[in-house]
Amino acid sequence: MQKITKAVFPVAGMGTRFLPATKANPKEMLPVVDKPLIQYAVEEAIAAGITDLVFITGRTKRSIEDHFDKAYEMEAELQARGKEKLLKVLRNVIPDHVNCIYIRQVEALGLGHAVLCAKPVIGDEPFAIILADDLIDGEPPVMKQMVEKFAYYQCSVLGVQNVAREETSQYGIVDAAPLSDNMFKVNNIVEKPAPELAPSTLGVVGRYILTPRIFHHLPRVQAGAGGEIQLTDAIAALLTEQQVLAYQFDGVRYDCGSKLGYLKATVEHALKHPELSKEFSQYLSELSKKL
Ligand code: G1P
Repeated sequence: MQKITKAVFPVAGMGTRFLPATKANPKEMLPVVDKPLIQYAVEEAIAAGITDLVFITGRTKRSIEDHFDKAYEMEAELQARGKEKLLKVLRNVIPDHVNCIYIRQVEALGLGHAVLCAKPVIGDEPFAIILADDLIDGEPPVMKQMVEKFAYYQCSVLGVQNVAREETSQYGIVDAAPLSDNMFKVNNIVEKPAPELAPSTLGVVGRYILTPRIFHHLPRVQAGAGGEIQLTDAIAALLTEQQVLAYQFDGVRYDCGSKLGYLKATVEHALKHPELSKEFSQYLSELSKKL
């Protein structure tokens, strides 16, 4: 039985929807309250037992590497000032048993191309993919739920959620038949179909477990939706020879690739934050009276 120990984080995208904030800074470093989006994604992977984190980076993404590096000067400073609590926060960003691997995607040719860049590190093992702009609160965390499904079914698993029919053109949409509780057998998958052409409303939301056979298909797919090399198209090819399942996970997903989704994530995480929840909820209820 194979275990999932590696996760790929494609972080080379331009983040144009957040310009000018993302002109020189990665969108994955946008904070939701006090943690950057990429850290939520990394914590989800670690909670799933993953130990090798493979970041597919690009230009303007150096702060991601810095974030997961040791911050000697800051640690020394906090230690000298006796700020033990903050020191712990700093040191806990990445646990000692976890490795960070960075691969630079020279040209942003699409999500499929980004995943293909991870091939030399992944080798012949099943692996996870997490898109950090889909922030998902789940208990247990969603990737852990998916790793459990993989352990049972031993095949590729896609994390899906019902999306609004008018929004199918933002997602990879599956054509799938129910298998058991929250599990579906995928018959086909289409990238960003128009609502009238979408085979269902089950959309893939930034969580994948794939078998290494995907690396056979990725170099063969042609540019698809948006002129990009799409992971979805390689999954469609994979389907012709291996079983792929869709898992309707248990959790709340925030589309932090959009301003509204990002704001919702910020407000709801602030309401749950131990230092902020009381005052922030008071503030919100006062504010709502004025609206
Ligand atoms: C990507 C994938 C798409 C998936 C989506 C989830 O699209 O190509 O299949 O449904 O992420 O967020 P993007 O949002 O990068 O355009």
